[in-house]
Amino acid sequence: MKTGKGCHLKMGEVQIFSGHRQRSPLRRPIWILVLICLVTVFLFWAYTYHPRSSSGCYIFSAKGCKGISVWLPPAPVREYTDEEVASRIVIQDILYTPSIERKNPKIAFMFLSPGSLPFEMLWDKFFQGHEGRFSVYVHASKDKPVHVSRYFVNREIRSDQVVWGKISMVDAERRLLANALKDPDNMRFVLLSDSCVPLRSFNYIYDYLMHTNVSFVDCFYDPGPHGNGRYSERMLPEVEKKDFRKGAQWFSLKRQHALIVLTDSLYYTKFRDYCKPGLDGRNCIADEHYLPTFFNLIDPNGIANWSITHVDWSERKWHPKSYRAQDVTYQLLKNISSIDRSLHVTSDGKHKEMEDPCLWNGVKRPCYLFARKFFPETLDKLLRLFPNYTLSH
Ligand SMILES: *[C@@H]1O[C@H](CO)[C@@H](O)[C@H](O)[C@H]1NC(C)=O
Ligand SMILES: *[C@@H]1O[C@H](CO)[C@@H](O)[C@H](O)[C@H]1NC(C)=O
Ligand SMILES: *[C@@H]1O[C@H](CO)[C@@H](O)[C@H](O)[C@H]1NC(C)=O
Ligand SMILES: *[C@@H]1O[C@H](CO)[C@@H](O)[C@H](O)[C@H]1NC(C)=O
Repeated sequence: MKTGKGCHLKMGEVQIFSGHRQRSPLRRPIWILVLICLVTVFLFWAYTYHPRSSSGCYIFSAKGCKGISVWLPPAPVREYTDEEVASRIVIQDILYTPSIERKNPKIAFMFLSPGSLPFEMLWDKFFQGHEGRFSVYVHASKDKPVHVSRYFVNREIRSDQVVWGKISMVDAERRLLANALKDPDNMRFVLLSDSCVPLRSFNYIYDYLMHTNVSFVDCFYDPGPHGNGRYSERMLPEVEKKDFRKGAQWFSLKRQHALIVLTDSLYYTKFRDYCKPGLDGRNCIADEHYLPTFFNLIDPNGIANWSITHVDWSERKWHPKSYRAQDVTYQLLKNISSIDRSLHVTSDGKHKEMEDPCLWNGVKRPCYLFARKFFPETLDKLLRLFPNYTLSH
């Protein structure tokens, strides 16, 4: 109430002065001061109470209310819990501490797979000649993989079972990040599945990821049953429904973001306990909501909001389109790699399509560096086509 106090003092001073002098010419300034005071108090009141209830707006029209909020600084948010205050300060510190410049910055390619990787030979071609600029990590959750490429031999990390939709998927992602962070030269962390293939040459992907400061985390607001319909109020107060987001799990993180994912236990615990299939009649899929919501809360401008891994949902089925050998043509790969707008479709009755240009450092560029889902039978065709479709870019 600093403003109010200051006002009363000023009025008092003016009154003392005015007592010694003629009264009538000074009347007007006093009333102006009183008026200014009242307006200031009102603005202060409107500003303080605006976020919690909109009752302040009824004094003026709704339009007038908007007017006020435009030229006032952002209203204070709710009071954070102790855990949030602690968590946010650690996160802020990591975000604003620049990574140490590395002489040989590398990209960590982290593969989530049940067992052997059907496209190892294709990745082998992709990596060839770029030794020292990448590292490979494999989380095989079921069977010990058989390797055909030297880049994959002895690159398995200790793994555990992964159940689709459960937090164990997020645990596997964190396990990969932890292992990849051990190498201080790893500056970007790309999560890939066994059905993913590269769409571009190594150099193209390396430059695309290294020369931007954003992480590629898919993130959008879906008011429908497969979006915010999966939200549970048990996540309150830290995760509010309005902050809940959705996105595909296939990310590329910069080093600071990879670190804050590992430091996070507050939000992680919320999703572990209250975002799972079958809880309170909701089918919440932790890996589709945890990271999009987390980054939306702590660094919304630090993520691109789209995934660099393409998948085709246009058939609107429970699973995305999976490509068979006959589907794989030069034209298909060219089509996917020339897409420069990201598409999100809400799951409510409206099926609202939201299309955004893929802006890379402010410039419109192709969105995708990888694609899924390819059946293992497509390997021969992809191997044959690979030099062609990646040659020009
Ligand atoms: C990324 O951030 C660093 C440090 O803030 C800055 O020096 C660099 O120019 C940025 N790079 C790009 C591509 O924006
Ligand atoms: C991602 O979306 C959020 C809003 O949800 C926005 O604030 C942010 O600027 C977007 N990121 C980029 C890089 O445009
Ligand atoms: C490639 O895109 C063109 C134009 O959108 C379309 O007509 C064609 O069917 C697509 N081809 C493949 C193989 O996806
Ligand atoms: C791929 O390249 C080879 C040789 O460079 C060429 O013979 C072949 O026609 C190309 N294939 C396509 C689909 O462009």
